[in-house]
Amino acid sequence: MATSMFLRTAKWQFKLSLAKLLFGSKSTAPHFALVGAGSSRQLCQRIVESGHQRVLVVTDKPLRDLGIADRASEALVKAGLDLHWYDGVQPDPTFTQVREGARILREQACTAILAVGGGSSMDAAKIIAATRDSSDEPESWAGLDKAPATAAPLYAVPTTAGTGSEATMGAVITHEGDRSKVVISGAALLPVAVALDPDLMLGLPPAITAATGLDALTHGVEAYIGLWDRGTRSETGRMCVKGVFEWLPRVMADPQDAEARLGMSIAAYYGGVAINQVNVGSVHAIAHQLGAYYHLPHGVANAMVLPHVLRVYGDAATPRLNELAPLMSAASAGAAIDAMEALRESVGLPASSDAIQSADHASIVARAIEEGDGYFSPRLLTESDVQGVLTAISG
Ligand SMILES: [Fe+2]
Repeated sequence: MATSMFLRTAKWQFKLSLAKLLFGSKSTAPHFALVGAGSSRQLCQRIVESGHQRVLVVTDKPLRDLGIADRASEALVKAGLDLHWYDGVQPDPTFTQVREGARILREQACTAILAVGGGSSMDAAKIIAATRDSSDEPESWAGLDKAPATAAPLYAVPTTAGTGSEATMGAVITHEGDRSKVVISGAALLPVAVALDPDLMLGLPPAITAATGLDALTHGVEAYIGLWDRGTRSETGRMCVKGVFEWLPRVMADPQDAEARLGMSIAAYYGGVAINQVNVGSVHAIAHQLGAYYHLPHGVANAMVLPHVLRVYGDAATPRLNELAPLMSAASAGAAIDAMEALRESVGLPASSDAIQSADHASIVARAIEEGDGYFSPRLLTESDVQGVLTAISG
């Protein structure tokens, strides 16, 4: 066991050095955000001005039925563009869904994609976009920076404030067969432009508002405490954490508070920018498995796992958590973790789930360790660390 940890650590340190060498000073692809009420119309105008005639809208059925996807894209229709739809995205999108969207992209000869929805629609749309210039199986792109170098231009209108996927060049896709999730990344997956339009978020149900809000918080914290220092991750991580603590309670108290909705969408966007530079950490490595095994909403899983993993990190995370603490009105790293737990509770998210089966613990531990070794968290987690987290959150 000791040898195995030694080898894991050596391999992990080598990967960190390699990542710094390969990506340390690389800027990300061009990308900008339109912000405020009505910004989705401005984004559509951008698409029109870029000369696209045929656009694929990637979204999910509930958003289409609610008319939100139509509102987000109506300026394209008014401008006379041909819209084609793939509205089959489901939570934890699969490679089958990606292939279906890719088929429509190809058959309808669409030259741009408008993603409308939460992280699932964003992630599926990124990989659909990447199929434009490659006949490879999308499964073969799993890993860091293995996506094709070019893709269909992607425009993003997030309808939740949390995943930050609108600001990242990564996507998480699920294999149907064994329920495993893979991360696919590459600069071409970064949306060309995004609209943070609070008008489209006013009707978001409280449970989704809360879960996505805690996902955003996890991004800000994991990016801030990680070991890889690149770009503006400290500033954007701080802006994310500060924004979530400032705006999420207000949004939960009044879902129609457009100013607070905008504040949350900006906080989530900052979280996305932060993880786009340095990636997430072991909290996500565990939470992803809970989504794949039990379809636990991503933000709910992160909210459960976050305080336990932060405590397990111990001294490795304390100095950075001490820096974040004042943003949560806390005086120490320990008090900051307590504040995050209190926020989770105040927005009505559970501390545990009885869906998590002890019979699955061993395979979840193995997969979480494997994924976690690809992130630059404050320290590597041992099998018993992850086991302890699972025990704590199993209902
Ligand atoms: Fe996340």
